[in-house]
Amino acid sequence: MKILVTGGLGFIGSHTVVELQNEGFEVVIIDNLSNSTVEVIDGITAISNIKPHFEKLDLKVKEDVKSFFNKHKDITGVIHFAASKAVGESVNEPLMYYENNITTLVYMLQELSGLNKQNFIFSSSCTVYGQADELPITENAPVKPAESPYGNTKQIGEEIIRDTCKVNDKLNSIALRYFNPIGAHPSAEIGELPIGVPQNLVPFITQTAIGMREQLSVFGGDYPTPDGTCVRDYIHVVDLAKAHVVALQRLLEGRNISNCEVFNLGTGTGSSVLQAIQSFEKVSGEKLN
Ligand SMILES: NC(=O)c1ccc[n+]([C@@H]2O[C@H](COP(=O)([O-])OP(=O)(O)OC[C@H]3O[C@@H](n4cnc5c(N)ncnc54)[C@H](O)[C@@H]3O)[C@@H](O)[C@H]2O)c1
Repeated sequence: MKILVTGGLGFIGSHTVVELQNEGFEVVIIDNLSNSTVEVIDGITAISNIKPHFEKLDLKVKEDVKSFFNKHKDITGVIHFAASKAVGESVNEPLMYYENNITTLVYMLQELSGLNKQNFIFSSSCTVYGQADELPITENAPVKPAESPYGNTKQIGEEIIRDTCKVNDKLNSIALRYFNPIGAHPSAEIGELPIGVPQNLVPFITQTAIGMREQLSVFGGDYPTPDGTCVRDYIHVVDLAKAHVVALQRLLEGRNISNCEVFNLGTGTGSSVLQAIQSFEKVSGEKLN
């Protein structure tokens, strides 16, 4: 079965491509390389021995999206990772975020409606829960007003999918709300390789370890947590990638209960920034500045 992975050369996308290939799926990747490099294909191929089909394409260009789907009418599922994801940047560049995260989703859903098989997995985020009132956070926790344009694009994205599912019962979708993906494939052939200044903790840790960054700053030591630093629920990227394959199989095998489902992807256990740093130091034997 042919599966389209948008943003498939990015951090989570590349790990998911490998897991899809492991399960025997044929993968087609779309990416515009705005936050990844083409070399990631070599990493994927080194792990799976299968070179995925890649099309460099900007999903903001409607005509290009249309002609892609005209060429690939036999796609049986789409995993839509492509988006801009930096919370801080989204505050400064809201329209860029709304254009890249919302327009591309609309184009994807429009083209999907022309296919025989309309199975769609969407990258959402735990950011939709804001500061939740109860822990652990379940899918029933209320969605709070978004704290950034980025978070808003995920909420609006889910609403767009929900509204579309209401009028198109051939569309089957699952929105996966990720907590904090970290780590890399154990082969180290692929990992988290953002372009420019990272937006996540682990690339800051690893880039400091190899001397790309002079020092690692920890912001805030007086949060109401055991060691005062921020606590997050981190999930390994390979576990996250495998969850995408499980979600896709659920749709392909018709095991979904409604045509618009939502699942959290986390571990339910929090770790602090200092714990993450200390774990890295213990495992790597490198002391961070
Ligand atoms: N990493 C996280 O902490 C996290 C948490 C929650 C949700 N998410 C969501 O998961 C998805 C993947 O995140 P990631 O960490 O792998 O990000 P990433 O930046 O590593 O990957 C996204 C990929 O999409 C590509 N892309 C962006 N805009 C595009 C466009 N218009 N056309 C074609 N390709 C485009 C980028 O070049 C990149 O390769 C995103 O939707 C993100 O919002 C990520």
